Amino acid sequence: MARFVAHGSLRLDAVVPEAMNEEALKVLADGVCGVPYGTPVAEAFPEGSFSRRLVELDRVAGALRSLVGPDPLIDHHHVHIREPEGGTAQPLHGDAIIDVRPDAFDVQLMYYPQEVTLEMGGTLSVPGSHLRRTNETDTGRYQNLRGQTRLVCPAGTVVIVHHGIWHGGRRNDSAVKRYMYKIRFNPTVRQVRLWNTGDLADPAVAEELRTRFPWYENAAGRLEYHNRVRLWRALTGDDSFDLDHWVTRVTNRPNRVSRSHA
Ligand SMILES: [Fe+2]
Repeated sequence: MARFVAHGSLRLDAVVPEAMNEEALKVLADGVCGVPYGTPVAEAFPEGSFSRRLVELDRVAGALRSLVGPDPLIDHHHVHIREPEGGTAQPLHGDAIIDVRPDAFDVQLMYYPQEVTLEMGGTLSVPGSHLRRTNETDTGRYQNLRGQTRLVCPAGTVVIVHHGIWHGGRRNDSAVKRYMYKIRFNPTVRQVRLWNTGDLADPAVAEELRTRFPWYENAAGRLEYHNRVRLWRALTGDDSFDLDHWVTRVTNRPNRVSRSHA
């Protein structure tokens, strides 16, 4: 969880079995029916359907349970297809400047049924960017950022991202049609200690939260640490957690009146 809070994503390589990946190419080529905003998973994806079996795979279900809790709602889902030698690169963007919730977040699941090579134009994203709220494509003028990743992965990979991560679809420069299936989930419970928290006090947790990314400049990088601490406090319910006193300093608003002025 600390790694997700620092990176803004969780990658599960080849977590979907081969037979399901083969099936997915047919299912996704046929397209998926739209789901009204806020539909419970069980209603949106009937028992036995491909989508239901995908989100119920042990590791996928475990990750979703840890991040958004039980009974999340489907915000929307969509099959993204890039034709061979097709498409144009999307400008780098964050999806929602209006979403400034400090204590809740949606996640987007991205499933890749095929092996994605560099030429196939796997999703570009910027690790550690999810808590830096920007206005949609205002970041589009950045052609490349240090530390950005262009997804290259084995078949059956699932990536779950914080909805705020800066990302962009890429052009497909290969001769292979590329499929990606996206599902966005809304939580229905407070996102507090939803995962196995037995090791919360382990120093490795704070170390993970201190992860630095190459695009951070020294002073502005502090904003990411500050935002991570605030999210970590919300997720753990521990208002004393801090990294180098950054949040403690800026939340210090004493009420006591000095006697010399009283
Ligand atoms: Fe987007």
